[in-house]
Amino acid sequence: MGYLDHLECTRCGGRYAPGELHNLCPACGKVLFARYDLERVRDEVSRDALAGREATMWRYREVMPVVDPKNIVTLGEGMTPLLPLEAIGRKLGLRHVFVKDEGLNPTGSFKARGLSAAVSKAKELGVRTASMPSAGNAGSAAAAYCARAGLDLYLVMPSDVPHVNQAEVATYGAQTYLIHGLIHDAGRSLRGQGKAKGWFDMSTLKEPYRVEGKKTMGYELAEQFHWSLPDVIIYPTGGGTGIVGMWKAFEEMETLGWIGSRRPRMVIVQAAGCAPMVRAHRNGRDEAEPWQHAQTIAAGLRVPEAIGDYLILQAVRASGGASYSVTDEEILADMRELAQAEGVFPCPEGAATYGALKAMVREAQVAPDDRVVLFNTGAGLKYVDLINPTLPTFDPATPPAALGGRV
Ligand SMILES: Cc1ncc(COP(=O)(O)O)c(C=O)c1O
Ligand SMILES: [Zn+2]
Repeated sequence: MGYLDHLECTRCGGRYAPGELHNLCPACGKVLFARYDLERVRDEVSRDALAGREATMWRYREVMPVVDPKNIVTLGEGMTPLLPLEAIGRKLGLRHVFVKDEGLNPTGSFKARGLSAAVSKAKELGVRTASMPSAGNAGSAAAAYCARAGLDLYLVMPSDVPHVNQAEVATYGAQTYLIHGLIHDAGRSLRGQGKAKGWFDMSTLKEPYRVEGKKTMGYELAEQFHWSLPDVIIYPTGGGTGIVGMWKAFEEMETLGWIGSRRPRMVIVQAAGCAPMVRAHRNGRDEAEPWQHAQTIAAGLRVPEAIGDYLILQAVRASGGASYSVTDEEILADMRELAQAEGVFPCPEGAATYGALKAMVREAQVAPDDRVVLFNTGAGLKYVDLINPTLPTFDPATPPAALGGRV
């Protein structure tokens, strides 16, 4: 522990002390990154030493921001399975398709990683009360980790956020309000009150540590691929913290000498009804215009504007990546297709990555031997509201023909 060196602005390069609470860069209003003494980590920690450590994201503790291990707030997040998708691969003519199944995290989504890191660091820095807007799963994770840390949490979420997220935050006891609006409206509604009351704003990328949790997906991929990286990563992008985090992880690991300079192509996928990053990428822009009238069943992708837009676009471009959008109809069909072909019940955001892969195959953007990783960012079980199963029912005395009954 204790390798965190300073915070650095991703735009103006300003440096700040890590022992104080920070949100965005005070000088320019952009995103701050945690920077570590990687030379010292390189000298003191070998990647082979990781093998015997706990199967959580805290196995990468030297590149995590918590200084005193007693401040770590964990529910066992991270080290999720990397599963080969052989049936899907055969169908698409690809030999190496994988899913990183983030649905197995505590609270059923990858948001656990970011919130474990942010709540741990907030606890270390003496925060008592935090606040956050959420599209759903981040709220659930924040509520769980704040409960475990003994922090008070104020949440604002869209009023039509999935029922399961409402049930989770209510059960974990977060002070939650539902707004007739979207996540950016929720964020605005908290700003004035939060400042006045001294609540710590845990909005993604507006505090420097959620991205540190998300970056561990990049460390895990490298470790699970035996310290090489896949050729293509397809990631469902809302606020983009995962893609920004993984890109940061790759740079750190290269400095540590754990991987070489080769990078995966970073492919973002958004919903056709809310695709600000795809539009910006395809128009060659460095920043994204807010999306009007955002609408999609993939609640986590209903993010009309992202503070880290420039970082997402940088990663996609620097990696020679691509961007795709998929319709809600494709998402629903692909949820079933993945579940039936592979036994993986994806969240709609995860199913969107499969839709993007199919588009890449149609456009010959992926080669048969490419190693492709789809990110299933959450458990399909969290989205049963979207599924209307119509199953045949019968009385014991009159079994249906398929079960041996009379026709
Ligand atoms: C299941 C799921 N996938 C993807 C996303 C988008 O994640 P990010 O904001 O890191 O881009 C979210 C965000 O709420 C989500 O809940
Ligand atoms: Zn700055």
